[in-house]
Amino acid sequence: MHSKSVQFQVAAGGSLKGEGRVAGDKSISHRSVMLGSLAEGTTHVSGFLEAEDALSTLAAFQAMGVDIERPATGQLIIHGVGMHGLQAPDKPLDLGNSGTSMRLLSGLLAGQAFDSVLVGDASLSRRPMKRVTTPLREMGAVIDTTEQGTAPLHIHGGHTLRGLHYAMPMASAQVKSCLLLAGLHAEGETSVSEPAPTRDHTERMLQGFGYDVQRVGDTVSLRGGGKLTACDIDVPADISSAAFFLVGASIAADSEVLLRHVGVNPTRTGVIDILKLMGADIELLNGRLVGGEPVADLRVRSAKLHGIAIPENLVPLAIDEFPVLFVAAACAEGETVLTGAEELRVKESDRIQSMADGLLALGIDARPTPDGMMIRGGRMTGGRVDSKGDHRIAMAFAIAALRASAAIQIDDCANVNTSFPSFVALARHLGLAISVLE
Ligand code: S3P
Repeated sequence: MHSKSVQFQVAAGGSLKGEGRVAGDKSISHRSVMLGSLAEGTTHVSGFLEAEDALSTLAAFQAMGVDIERPATGQLIIHGVGMHGLQAPDKPLDLGNSGTSMRLLSGLLAGQAFDSVLVGDASLSRRPMKRVTTPLREMGAVIDTTEQGTAPLHIHGGHTLRGLHYAMPMASAQVKSCLLLAGLHAEGETSVSEPAPTRDHTERMLQGFGYDVQRVGDTVSLRGGGKLTACDIDVPADISSAAFFLVGASIAADSEVLLRHVGVNPTRTGVIDILKLMGADIELLNGRLVGGEPVADLRVRSAKLHGIAIPENLVPLAIDEFPVLFVAAACAEGETVLTGAEELRVKESDRIQSMADGLLALGIDARPTPDGMMIRGGRMTGGRVDSKGDHRIAMAFAIAALRASAAIQIDDCANVNTSFPSFVALARHLGLAISVLE
């Protein structure tokens, strides 16, 4: 599936104009399959992200006996099996590139009666899993990993889980969600406190399925043993995918783009706050609540950006958007400084290093630090950069071409299909001169 040879070639300059809808929200798509599968009754999902990561989650539940119909693009009909209805998969569950699938499933499967094995691609097999296996073991789960604490994860079923009160050492929605999902099958109360707010889609969706979830201050809790009742889910467009065009239309002259039906949950809108602090012209129009998630249309126009010190409290709220925010910084006047973002080093690639390497290759003064980066805005040349197989690095450098002085070639772009398969088509529709060589 993964081919290193997929290359993007993007001509320099131009502007972005028009309207469009970016791909469905990845985080919400994963959770819709997980909770829909465990619910009693039939869950209808629309706007589902038909991309490799979310499809890995979908295939995993099909392999555990859940009947999921796909009547049309973006639509799922999930025939829930109830809290105890999953069946043992007959082979390892291959989660591809998807950290969210692996970390959330590890919690959901730790309390099952059967054994399961979770595997992933080379990138996922390098990513840290101790952050979930350590607290899950405290709950009574039995999980084997490699000596480094990485996948494959061998989860031994048939162990009773006990509720846990866990203070997360890092601000991670995946760890929080893993433990809440484990808590569904645990005795007593499970609670997780977070050092800073992280995306709360799991909590919102559990409530949508009728499960009692409490939040007091920085702590979320639930009691095991309840049930989920099927509901309908309208997945909004992914703000993490919209981010490429928020930056693109900001940095390119004469641009104006309208992005429809974008999820603007306040635990995800750090990218808008950061861009506005840099001087961006972004408006939220027609704000509404869709199935418990705030949604809006986003209008963005060209603006003159300036460098800032990015407030650390915004980092977890924009954690997936830094590759393209670094491009915004490269096009801004003055210096942008990011600190408190060491988590970027353990994403699909080391995103601090991948972006610093690429920006330097394009003539930008980018200085990586252990927990962030300093970028001085300047003139970007064209050139050839390596996405390191990371979807968001690939898309970020495609957007950079809007302000480069010559074409940019980006290697190893196949993984754009993990989150945003329609990126190239939508980017072209809005005016980016991008072509794909396979
Ligand atoms: C996600 C949480 C974030 C994010 C990832 C999706 C989620 O990861 O980077 O793309 O859906 O819960 P962390 O929890 O590791 O920060």
